[in-house]
Amino acid sequence: MIETQSLTADDAGFARAAELLSGGGLVAFPTETVYGLGADARNDHAVARIYEAKGRPSFNPLIVHLADLDAVRDLVDWSPEAETLAKAFWPGPLTMVLPLKAGAGVSRLVSAGLPTLAVRMPANPVARRLLTEFGGPVAAPSANPSGRISPTRAAHVRDGLTGRIEAVLDGGRCGVGVESTILGLTGRPTLLRPGGLPLEDIAEVLKRPISERKDSEAISAPGQLASHYAPHARVRLNATDWHAGEATLGFGPMACDLNLSPTGDLVDAAANLFEYLHRLDASGAERIAVAPVPHLGLGVAINDRLGRAAAPRD
Ligand code: TXA
Ligand code: MG
Repeated sequence: MIETQSLTADDAGFARAAELLSGGGLVAFPTETVYGLGADARNDHAVARIYEAKGRPSFNPLIVHLADLDAVRDLVDWSPEAETLAKAFWPGPLTMVLPLKAGAGVSRLVSAGLPTLAVRMPANPVARRLLTEFGGPVAAPSANPSGRISPTRAAHVRDGLTGRIEAVLDGGRCGVGVESTILGLTGRPTLLRPGGLPLEDIAEVLKRPISERKDSEAISAPGQLASHYAPHARVRLNATDWHAGEATLGFGPMACDLNLSPTGDLVDAAANLFEYLHRLDASGAERIAVAPVPHLGLGVAINDRLGRAAAPRD
């Protein structure tokens, strides 16, 4: 259990919240849609702790929150359509999914290994001031335990996450109350999740119809993620010994090429997972063998993701 501080939206509260984020802490903060559970998007360990705090069963990609357009353009390949939408709706409850820029410096865990990144510029003044004082990208899903209703008041956040996060910045009640509308812009504009900004408003500004994806096809659906990120190498799970020619990924004290956590820490292991799979794949080995990871806490999400990496494909 960690002590969860209640911060008010005054000079001292913003300074403390920004300081906690800089130190890899988790800070819940209000946006105009719902409260977000924020972490420094560049810090693998901090991002891994988001999944742990929420008890998320899998690594769904997260939305990155930013205070200004220049900062957004540093992270994603910007487009004329994105520019039009930003002019019309930012700051506000619209999230855009765009190609992730090489060298953006965002933890791979944020986009769950996808080549795209969800970005949003929230309108809530408390969120904006926090983002400005922190001065970096903040990854934030809704600040509720997985499977529970999204929080629209600081008290909801405290009910769900006290003892699991460093602080809650109280900014009163969220105006929008439903999450942002998510628009995919890597091809034809596609609605990935309906939300606080009506689809018709977007279509009117873009002067073209928006394709709608059924829930079952959404990017958050498990199958979709697997096809977006699979190593070239075959993956052998729960390996208790290493075979010749394999690239080896360990967990706990053992000899191996890379070790998710020599001390058996699941938070560290989650933070390293995508990075290490990429590195072993880049070594050119035909097979990656992975030691067993315990199926508890963050280990459930790690095994979920490993299972997808190892799934048969054609
Ligand atoms: O209003 C909101 O959007 C709130 C506040 C805190 O900003 N955030 C929120 O985050 O709802 P979350 O994690 O609960 O939902 C994020 C959604 C997920 O359904 C995820 O699949 C989608 O965004 N998403 C994130 N990155 C994506 C990507 N690269 N491609 C497609 N979908 C993505
Ligand atoms: Mg949510």
